[in-house]
Amino acid sequence: MFRAALGYLSGAMHLSNEFLLQCAKRYGTPIYVYNGDLILQRYRELFEFIPWPKLRVLYAMKANYNPAILTLLGEQGAGIDAVSPAEIVLALKCGYQENQILFTANNLTAREMHVAHALGVLFNIDTLSTIDRFGRIFPGSDLCLRFNPNVVAGDNAKVQTAGEASKFGILLSELSTVKNLVKTHDLRIVGLHIHTGSGIKNPRKSLKAMQNLLEIATPENFPDLQFIDFGGGLAVPYHPEEERIDYASFGKNIAALFGTFCENYGRELGLYLEPGKYIVAESGYLLMEVTSLKNNQERRFANTDSGFPHLIRPVLYDAYHHIVNLSNPHGSLRTYDICGNICESGDCFASGRSMPKIREEDILAVQNAGAYCYSMGGLYNLRAMPAEILTLNGKERMVRRSSSEEELVESILAECL
Ligand code: LLP
Repeated sequence: MFRAALGYLSGAMHLSNEFLLQCAKRYGTPIYVYNGDLILQRYRELFEFIPWPKLRVLYAMKANYNPAILTLLGEQGAGIDAVSPAEIVLALKCGYQENQILFTANNLTAREMHVAHALGVLFNIDTLSTIDRFGRIFPGSDLCLRFNPNVVAGDNAKVQTAGEASKFGILLSELSTVKNLVKTHDLRIVGLHIHTGSGIKNPRKSLKAMQNLLEIATPENFPDLQFIDFGGGLAVPYHPEEERIDYASFGKNIAALFGTFCENYGRELGLYLEPGKYIVAESGYLLMEVTSLKNNQERRFANTDSGFPHLIRPVLYDAYHHIVNLSNPHGSLRTYDICGNICESGDCFASGRSMPKIREEDILAVQNAGAYCYSMGGLYNLRAMPAEILTLNGKERMVRRSSSEEELVESILAECL
């Protein structure tokens, strides 16, 4: 173990280039490195920003389900937003209690319903027929309902989860049908939920979505509410020149809005948030080695030992991830396509990117690789997923190892009949 030098860049704690280079040297590439101290800072600061006594943060574990990260956040008192039975099982194994987990599945099967119910967690259901099915199987249960707040927001169309074009949530106009179903099956609605989108850069849209939900959250409609869950979607900068959203003032606005709501409702309710990106995105780096350089007529390629199975966001969403040449940070600038080792031309982390001169065997760090990178990974082209390193109090440890080629093939053969 060696000490991780922490630097402060644009107000956030970043792992230093030297430390990341040491990690690459010691553990090999490709590899993910996560800054646990920054994860803790991001989690804790939400409680400073949002002055509400009954604030709960349910970490959206789909962003990064490494057990060491789950445990770290669990020790801080975080809850969990789970979206599949396996996520629930993993959270329970990492020390979370049933009542700390909210289960928000999309397109839940009857089998999943039984499995999750046996695990003892609260369901958050977003479809009329699923409420009906749930009510028939488990009448008299507590339940949370996910509404569509009718606001379109989020980083790109693929991650906008509300508005008319979205498959998610119960329409606000379907309220009376919901109330009938609730009555028919004697359900007790203890929570209301929205999740508007991911990477919402305009906090006013988030506030509007909250307002829309709160309008139907009256004691007449839902007399048994214990909490309102406003979902995730808090954006963080991905580009070095992107400004940080002022979450301190956003948090005050949320608390004021919620305070007025609770006065009218007649009780102080819990205010839940479900951030994923906000907590882990900036903590992560994907380190890769440049395996070859190639100049074709039009383009200069820097090819690496990673690929889109390790970080799919640029390919899937055209997402910008900042990339640093750790080995030559002050080299003269040139323009590169930074590509992976997958047999598809689209396998690029960045195209036409101005970077300090890249040489073969240089180590590159893709930033903001803490959220939706490992967790959206896969084995395409049959290379194992990289190992993961977590730093805490400035010290690093490997929290998940990679597999050898033999182990990878054995695990495939073991599943094949
Ligand atoms: N709650 C629910 C019900 C969600 O579906 C999600 C994300 C979250 C919370 C957390 O959202 P966050 O705070 O992380 O934005 N793969 C995409 C993001 C997809 C988000 C899906 N749902 C990306 O890499 O941008």
